[in-house]
Amino acid sequence: MDFDDTWHPTTHPSGAVLPALLAISETMPEKQRAGGLDLLLAFNVGIEVQGRLMHCSKEASNVPKRFHPPSILGTMGSAAAAAKLLGLDSFKCKDALAIAASYAGAPLANAATQTKPLHMGNASRHGLEAAALASLGLQGNKLILDLESGFGAFYPDYLPQTLPSLQSYSWLLEQQDVAIKSFPAHLGTHWMAEAALAARKHLAKSREALPSDRIKTIVLNVPDVKYVNRPFPSSEHEARHSFQFAACSALLDGCISVESFKQQNVSRPELNELLRKTHLEHSSHNQPSFNSLYCEANITLHDGYTFSERCDTFHGHWRKPLSQGDLVKKFLTNASTAVSMEAAESIVNAVENLEKLEDCRALTLLLQGAESTKDQLKHRSGAF
Ligand SMILES: *[C@@H]1O[C@H](CO)[C@@H](O)[C@H](O)[C@H]1NC(C)=O
Ligand SMILES: *[C@@H]1O[C@H](CO)[C@@H](O)[C@H](O)[C@H]1NC(C)=O
Ligand SMILES: *[C@@H]1O[C@H](CO)[C@@H](O)[C@H](O)[C@H]1NC(C)=O
Ligand SMILES: *[C@@H]1O[C@H](CO)[C@@H](O)[C@H](O)[C@H]1NC(C)=O
Repeated sequence: MDFDDTWHPTTHPSGAVLPALLAISETMPEKQRAGGLDLLLAFNVGIEVQGRLMHCSKEASNVPKRFHPPSILGTMGSAAAAAKLLGLDSFKCKDALAIAASYAGAPLANAATQTKPLHMGNASRHGLEAAALASLGLQGNKLILDLESGFGAFYPDYLPQTLPSLQSYSWLLEQQDVAIKSFPAHLGTHWMAEAALAARKHLAKSREALPSDRIKTIVLNVPDVKYVNRPFPSSEHEARHSFQFAACSALLDGCISVESFKQQNVSRPELNELLRKTHLEHSSHNQPSFNSLYCEANITLHDGYTFSERCDTFHGHWRKPLSQGDLVKKFLTNASTAVSMEAAESIVNAVENLEKLEDCRALTLLLQGAESTKDQLKHRSGAF
């Protein structure tokens, strides 16, 4: 759905790591059970490795052009996290990363198609597979991270760096938090939707219909990101990667949500009419970096009246994070479409107390829909 958390430099850090770890903790043998702290540590290792790798390339800092980052970094992060949770020694960890590098890399041109989500699923799967193969003794080039013909194959300006010593080490997540989306579309469209919603206030009250016929032109100032420039998206996936769609949908409906991307909404004639009045402009100082980009909507009416609204930091960006309450609300709404509300609340509780969880299977059982940890563990223990 394109609902993933997003980091800076650009990737979706959790999506490839968490499923691999949950899969491993479900299958661990009785004597080797992973606790919540083990899971947390392995998760952070998986995120950290992605962040450290991105810091070795300037190209990785901006919205990418060639590879879809999770298909590279996610594969490496999943391998690192899986290697940690499986307790591989440092030699086997190197092999796991080397094998993962051979699995990495999917072209960005498949963004905005049904294939994009496969990148994330495959990254998770391949990283786990790489760690499993390394644990069985498969070897790769242990210098893979140091070589231009190794990890450097993915970034032309790759410059590997020595890691800080463990004494002075601090986790990247402590310096740079993630952004959390409030609707499922490319992160850049979140700036656009907020600017358009602010502009809409010049024309209509929140519940009122937009007087579309008064609008002559809509000029959007956005960073030059080719794959999010789609003047007339025709599918849900194209709509999720369209500045124009985000702006016009927000203007038309006064909100943007999961439903905005339903086919019926994407192909509405009223929307198409607004899209035809819209064009993009790029200014040289509006760089395609999630740390500094902005979006602006300039609207001119037939009577000559013009107005403009700009968004520098949307709600959910790391400079303006969602509150814990908003996050839990988002999780409960989303999760309760898959498990009962009671189970979803138990998951929130288990995650908030993850470091105290003795056996991660308690969490994975809840994710499978069990309503409370204790009963299910008792009930299902025979199956493990
Ligand atoms: C996903 O992985 C499978 C199995 O390795 C591979 O056949 C497929 O091409 C991959 N797909 C993408 C989109 O990366
Ligand atoms: C939008 O309007 C603002 C304020 O009037 C102006 O400074 C800016 O140049 C305009 N941008 C575009 C892309 O027209
Ligand atoms: C279209 O989108 C709006 C705004 O998100 C939503 O309220 C409405 O239910 C959607 N319509 C359909 C048919 O999904
Ligand atoms: C997920 O949460 C978002 C944010 O609260 C909400 O807009 C959306 O409708 C939810 N999606 C589903 C599938 O429940």
